[in-house]
Amino acid sequence: MAAVTERPRVAILPDAVADQIAAGEVVERPASVVKELVENALDAGARHIRISIENGGKTRVEVADDGLGMSREDAVLALDRHATSKIRQAQDLVGVTTYGFRGEALPAVASVSRFSLMTSDGEGEATALTVTGGRLERVERTARQRGTTVEVRNLFFNTPARRKFLRSTASETRAAVDAVATLALANPATGFELHCDERLRLHAPPGQSGGDRLSTVWGHDLVATLVPVRHATGGFRVEGFVQRPSDARPTGRRTQLLVNGRPFRDPFLIRAAEAGYRSAINPGDRPSVYLAIEVAKDEVDVNVHPAKLEVRFRDRFGLEQAVESAVRTALGHLVAAAPLVGQTAPSDLIPWGESLSGSLAGSSMTGPSGQSGSATLDVQFPEVTPAGFPYPLFQLFDTYIVYQTPEGLVITDQHSAHERVLYESILAQLRGSLAPAQRLLLPLTLDLSDEELEAVEQHRERLARVGFEVDPFGGRSVVVHTVPNPHPRFDAGRCLREMVADLARGRFGGWADPLERFAATFACRAAVKAGERLDEREMRELMVRLLATTLPPHDVHGRATMLQLTREELERRFGRR
Ligand SMILES: Nc1ncnc2c1ncn2[C@@H]1O[C@H](COP(=O)(O)OP(=O)(O)OP(=O)(O)O)[C@@H](O)[C@H]1O
Ligand SMILES: [Mg+2]
Repeated sequence: MAAVTERPRVAILPDAVADQIAAGEVVERPASVVKELVENALDAGARHIRISIENGGKTRVEVADDGLGMSREDAVLALDRHATSKIRQAQDLVGVTTYGFRGEALPAVASVSRFSLMTSDGEGEATALTVTGGRLERVERTARQRGTTVEVRNLFFNTPARRKFLRSTASETRAAVDAVATLALANPATGFELHCDERLRLHAPPGQSGGDRLSTVWGHDLVATLVPVRHATGGFRVEGFVQRPSDARPTGRRTQLLVNGRPFRDPFLIRAAEAGYRSAINPGDRPSVYLAIEVAKDEVDVNVHPAKLEVRFRDRFGLEQAVESAVRTALGHLVAAAPLVGQTAPSDLIPWGESLSGSLAGSSMTGPSGQSGSATLDVQFPEVTPAGFPYPLFQLFDTYIVYQTPEGLVITDQHSAHERVLYESILAQLRGSLAPAQRLLLPLTLDLSDEELEAVEQHRERLARVGFEVDPFGGRSVVVHTVPNPHPRFDAGRCLREMVADLARGRFGGWADPLERFAATFACRAAVKAGERLDEREMRELMVRLLATTLPPHDVHGRATMLQLTREELERRFGRR
């Protein structure tokens, strides 16, 4: 960039320029125009909204509603920056229930397009306004029923640099359809009609129930694979639908999050929902998720993103926990609904050694039915030697290790068990000796975000202790020289990436001791996953190591690693007692 030779004078920008700058943040592409106009229609109480776009919205976007409309005076004022009817003072932002509150969408859109607005409040005459590139051209009378129609032509006609960034018609159309779908899901009482180049793409009648609206927008086939979620904890209510584990696929999923009725994006909350599946899905599967969160209005800040696509929660960690347990509870009901054989009572499967740890009794996450703590068992751990485990072991669904004892049948979750094992051994290494690592012939480089880079710097010493020797590599890259080797199928790059992401966003934030927190993060990410086939020797080694830990029956999240179906229970069921 050329240096400035003369000292520039400070000056206030003309409104038109300021609007264009604001437009850079609010109006990124035609889909943003669609979103802003539909939100305005919803804020005006529309019962029916008709949207049509041409050429992905690059040529034309029109949104017509039957809402409250505007008087002529208000219509002219609405085009001024910071003109809004929705809030009056800063405090009104807390718990604001309208989509809009900044008073900048209309002037921003009008500054970068050929814009016209027709509106009637059903009382005086209707008004038609025309604006070109931010300049008000005409204010006329017209005839119209109550409501508002806004037409936006030739988006970015006066900002060619931005026009160049527009994508193909197909991809702009997709983004616009998504924008409408999101708002249609959040407003099942309002009717939506979306036409793309004269083709009807979405037709959602007014007055639908939430479930019906979801079917209309996502399609019956997808919705048929969902199960309901309903959960309240720590000041959060989480309701909605998630996909059955067996229907989750690596691609093609849909997600939607709402907070107090407002759609928002948050990949980390989606990850928290995925964490709720834990070992129930294969590592690469991406389940569809629709979650509506209700929280006290002062717990969420909606004014943190120029296009309001993101929000900020005060108790972020609590919310992630709530989402994760909501999903797990929903899926837990599935297990309860598909018992071993016939009708299974909740106490049939008892977390093994529940009596060992009083602190976890009553936790709703330990048993498959959410009713653990109702019974305790004193179980003898089998005698193990480093060489062997006294019972034959076999693997179920490449996920559970099963064996028989004199008392019954024991089922162990291989991921949870390995997590417990790694957690304890890594914690010992963090406190003392170095973990064995292997030097890479071809060092790995990773590109990270700023937060992740910071997390690497903060935990560099600990990473080295568990076996990851990581150095900065210029810019936002790091180079990895050595990696640990906790098991044969270990994917070092992926593990490091996931750990760094977890550390950067404070997942595992509940651990008071930073070393323990780090160890839990490593254990969770490095452990064998569900769906990995283990041979007999590996299973034996895992069980031997698990029983050598201080707390075999519990993983690092406070959930059970093993369950026991007692012999007594089997005998009762088969009428032998
Ligand atoms: N479809 C509509 N029906 C009735 N009034 C409307 C409509 N669209 C806009 N308005 C009025 O124009 C004002 C300005 O709209 P604009 O979208 O610029 O700002 P906002 O919605 O208040 O805030 P934000 O910039 O956050 O969207 C609104 O506050 C509203 O009073
Ligand atoms: Mg608005």
